[in-house]
Amino acid sequence: MESIKDLKDEIQSLKEKHNATIFSHYYEEGNIQDIADELGDSLFLAQRGAEVDNPVVLMAGVVFMAESIKILSPEKKVLIPDTKAGCSLVDHSPFEKYKVWREENPEALIVSYVNSSAGVKALSDVTCTSTNALKIIESIPKDRKILFGPDKNLGRYLAEQTRRDMDLWPGTCEVHVLFSAKKLFELKAKHPDAVVIAHPECDKNVLDHADVIGSTSRLLKEVTDNKKTKFIVATEAGIFHEMQKKRPEAKLIQAPAKGNCACNECPYMKMNTLSKIRDALKSLKPEVTVDEDLIKRARVPLDRMMKITNGESIQWPTSFKW
Ligand code: 13P
Ligand code: SF4
Repeated sequence: MESIKDLKDEIQSLKEKHNATIFSHYYEEGNIQDIADELGDSLFLAQRGAEVDNPVVLMAGVVFMAESIKILSPEKKVLIPDTKAGCSLVDHSPFEKYKVWREENPEALIVSYVNSSAGVKALSDVTCTSTNALKIIESIPKDRKILFGPDKNLGRYLAEQTRRDMDLWPGTCEVHVLFSAKKLFELKAKHPDAVVIAHPECDKNVLDHADVIGSTSRLLKEVTDNKKTKFIVATEAGIFHEMQKKRPEAKLIQAPAKGNCACNECPYMKMNTLSKIRDALKSLKPEVTVDEDLIKRARVPLDRMMKITNGESIQWPTSFKW
């Protein structure tokens, strides 16, 4: 059995050999977050993926995150430690069905969460992450109909916040929908001094109990900046690692899940391990590839997202053309 230190040393020398950068999402296990050159939420990882100069990028995250980097920087070799690291939102939005929805509403603008396949992005007018979603929706002219997918919980939350009417695709995150509103209510009663923070992928009845709703980086900021010392956290457990680093004295309580499962861990994010990262850097495989035509099409909504995020103005298409 290899020691964690030996694995980390080997990863470091392979990284130097191949001039590679390691990206990690906050939902990875702590040891992976610790060796990452770039650690962040989905928006940060997509932005940095387009910026870093290294020819090899290893994404310790899920496939849609690696695909976003490939779409934005097709010249890079993008590695993923485990190609099975999918996402329930991708599974809930098959390309052919999403295309029918798109074609039935040619005059609408379709906003897709980056937690989607390259094909779904290619069908979309703009993408968003939970960090920039409000800004993206607010940038859409009031007279345009909006379709939002594939996360219906994030979509409903955005519709409420912006008071925009939206048609929602019925997908969900299999991790965030497992928090229990009833148990959260009981837990809050035991800890009236705690700040409840929740990711917008959670069900509405869970969000109704939250003091702060936001993306992974927004929730991390809350724990970092809020003077209170107790937090009930309704999101994936991997973020506790960075929260605890930023506020070692804070007490973090995991929001309870339905049933008795410890299901607040994303099974896809947790497929990545240090030894799989070492193997991928050694063999430079598995590599994430995206069809050239899809790269061209999916780049348009990703570029629009980046521009709106940076405060630049953009042109909206008048109707859908494939
Ligand atoms: P953010 O990193 O955008 O908060 O997304 C959460 C998530 O579910 C990533 O898979
Ligand atoms: Fe997908 Fe949910 Fe896992 Fe994020 S946490 S990768 S949305 S299944």
